[in-house]
Amino acid sequence: MKLTVVGGGSTYTPELIDGFARLRDTLPVGELVLVDPAEDRLELVGGLARRIFARQGHPGRIVTTGDLDAGVDGADAVLLQLRVGGQAAREKDETWPLECGCVGQETTGAGGLAKALRTVPVVLDIAERVRRANPRAWIVDFTNPVGIVTRALLRAGHRAVGLCNVAIGLQRKFAGLLGVAPADLHLDHVGLNHLTWETGVRLGGPEGEDVLPELLGEHGGTIAGDLRLPRPLLDRLGVVPSYYLRYYYAHDEVVRELRTKPSRAAEVAAMERELLRMYGDPSLDEKPALLARRGGAYYSEAAVDLAAALLGGGGSPYQVVNTLNRGTLPFLPDDAVIEVQAAVGPAGPAPLPVAAPDPLFAGLLANVTAYEDLALGAALHGGRERVFRALLAHPLIGQYEYAETLTDRLVAHNREHLAWA
Ligand code: G6P
Ligand code: MN
Repeated sequence: MKLTVVGGGSTYTPELIDGFARLRDTLPVGELVLVDPAEDRLELVGGLARRIFARQGHPGRIVTTGDLDAGVDGADAVLLQLRVGGQAAREKDETWPLECGCVGQETTGAGGLAKALRTVPVVLDIAERVRRANPRAWIVDFTNPVGIVTRALLRAGHRAVGLCNVAIGLQRKFAGLLGVAPADLHLDHVGLNHLTWETGVRLGGPEGEDVLPELLGEHGGTIAGDLRLPRPLLDRLGVVPSYYLRYYYAHDEVVRELRTKPSRAAEVAAMERELLRMYGDPSLDEKPALLARRGGAYYSEAAVDLAAALLGGGGSPYQVVNTLNRGTLPFLPDDAVIEVQAAVGPAGPAPLPVAAPDPLFAGLLANVTAYEDLALGAALHGGRERVFRALLAHPLIGQYEYAETLTDRLVAHNREHLAWA
């Protein structure tokens, strides 16, 4: 089996390699290709990747290349984990929206739109080249904003699935709190990427007993603490929102905080410098503990599980993925991309039925889905007016004066990445 990682020079890659090494019985990778235009990073990361495989006795071959077409040739699955413009572009996304009193975040709000505009054309070009090399290859997209990018891929007819680690992170957390194995916990997970709620926590599988009320009763304080939301709010909602919902439920509080501290991009850039220095040490042959301070915990496990299921070798029967709605949430368009539990096999994901969400959640979902549609239109066709309309539609923006100013800022800060600007 051949797997290719585009953006393989990412400092996150050792997390993925560690997962491939530990879980090689689930996903027997014979050849792993790391593709990245940044040669020096790729060499550092590739070197550590080979040492991790060697230490864990993994027989697979690791190849590094800057040549995308050669790298994807013959791949059974291609993982996309790239960041157009790097942390420098992210730093801007996290900063200029604050000037209008709006959240500055890499996937939520105006910053997320900027990221979508930079990213969608690049990912579509890569996907075309994957399809040319092997029309049967599966594309697993981690590249943010995952909902919009996956929608772009699926609209262009690619064999693509979007993946995020929020659900697997909560599953692991809840399993720890309840003292059960993660595999025995099934989350009723509903929403859009980075806009989800756990509406049930079931023992054993999709038909199992729902222990969410007990979980909230006994561990609501811990969960609320992790989310940095008030416990009484969680009790009133009766569900567990993802931590991205804090950008909505506590928007102004978050803006105040963000204004007083360094951006996450700056923190991550400092960590990346340190990580790369560590990766260059020939005696290092495991993922360093520092990597755990990044947001990507368990993403290797989710990736192995998904690739194994898509390539027909196993994996969990049900997995949380980003895929076409196709009537699962009847109040959203069929071609919207939703993040839900799906039965995954070689034919792709088939969403499990979902109970109708409370209007408290459905309203926001419908609103953000409409924004994502406008955002994708702006990413595909460009133009200041399309950017303005997407921003005006976003529930965290909504006012024309903000939308106008943010459009100007977005264009000014991203001109080098926008063909039309
Ligand atoms: C989580 C999210 C990812 C996001 C990451 C950011 O893993 O699910 O979509 O990219 O956090 O982590 P970072 O360490 O870059 O802030
Ligand atoms: Mn994510």
